[in-house]
Amino acid sequence: MVDDITHNIVTKTKPTFYFVGVTTHQSSIMKVFPRWMQAIGRPEVVIEGINHRIHDDPKSYRATVAQIKYDPLSLGALVTTHKIDLLTASRYMFDGLHDSADQTGEVSSISKRKEQLWGHAKDPLTSGLSLDAILGPGYFGKSHGHVLCFGAGGSGKAISLHFISRTNPDDRPKKLIVNNRSEARLLELKKMVDSLETDILFEYNQNVDPTVNDNIMANMPEGSIVINATGMGKDTPGSPVTNSGLFPRNSIAWEINYRGELDFWHQAMAQRHSRNVMVEDGWLYFLHGWTQVIAEVLDLEFDARTFDELGKIAEDLRPPLVYIPKNGDIDSG
Ligand SMILES: NC(=O)c1ccc[n+]([C@@H]2O[C@H](COP(=O)([O-])OP(=O)(O)OC[C@H]3O[C@@H](n4cnc5c(N)ncnc54)[C@H](OP(=O)(O)O)[C@@H]3O)[C@@H](O)[C@H]2O)c1
Repeated sequence: MVDDITHNIVTKTKPTFYFVGVTTHQSSIMKVFPRWMQAIGRPEVVIEGINHRIHDDPKSYRATVAQIKYDPLSLGALVTTHKIDLLTASRYMFDGLHDSADQTGEVSSISKRKEQLWGHAKDPLTSGLSLDAILGPGYFGKSHGHVLCFGAGGSGKAISLHFISRTNPDDRPKKLIVNNRSEARLLELKKMVDSLETDILFEYNQNVDPTVNDNIMANMPEGSIVINATGMGKDTPGSPVTNSGLFPRNSIAWEINYRGELDFWHQAMAQRHSRNVMVEDGWLYFLHGWTQVIAEVLDLEFDARTFDELGKIAEDLRPPLVYIPKNGDIDSG
């Protein structure tokens, strides 16, 4: 199968770091990356986006992996959206998978060590760092809220794994509900959860009807966390809930993207006053995700000071995120 795709390999003339996604050229990283490389003393490293369709042809994923594996100046990649599909299509091409990738069946980082191709799933770590910053310690002990996660893909899995791995019971929700469009992804997530020890009660719903999602959301206890990990509002239009869907009172809404139409973020913002919803976006997730993968690919370690410095550089280039109230918003406050 590899022979099929190796004839398309391009011999790079500069050390190249790939970004594998859906609309990579619109990402802030295209502007941020060269500035970051200057800051860390690796200005020769360039970034290149590779766009795949959602659930693309497995052959096409293998061609991307072959480019990295066989071209000497192709250093590695950050993978978003296709983390599961890419690994499913190309698992045999990797020489080593970190436990995180094995456990989740996904790769967000592709790197090389000598001649070996390695895959890591950084999202359990990076979504966890973001959630820790959003929630603070002991959140569930104080709020008694649950978690509702729309999307059982790479990020939905990573978020589930993060909560399972929290050692303090006050950092774990009693219940985590996952809603996904396809049954297959839910079954994969369930398989992962069943293979681990956890006292979190998982509930899995296969559904695409946003009015059904509204009902599920309306029944969440106060103080819950509602997460949009579907890519809707960035990779595809819309939101998993309708404009009439009520967020739980005193809840946290986390849209894991930071760019795009961000309908879910707007819906939550519309209720920030009337239902006291704290609304978060995916910028911090973006910073943690990128710095962790760059460190892995370039074989570096970033300390907290460097992370802060890189964060400041990126902040200057961040696209503005402006809330635009729409007619019919529940609370346009
Ligand atoms: N801020 C950041 O740095 C950051 C980091 C990680 C990810 N992300 C973004 O987060 C999004 C998700 O990433 P991912 O890697 O988890 O993608 P993924 O593996 O494609 O997962 C998305 C999941 O959402 C499901 N879905 C789509 N529409 C739905 C709906 N209406 N209701 C319920 N489920 C629905 C899909 O179901 P099917 O199984 O039917 O396809 C799929 O399982 C992407 O936009 C990605 O770019 C951002």
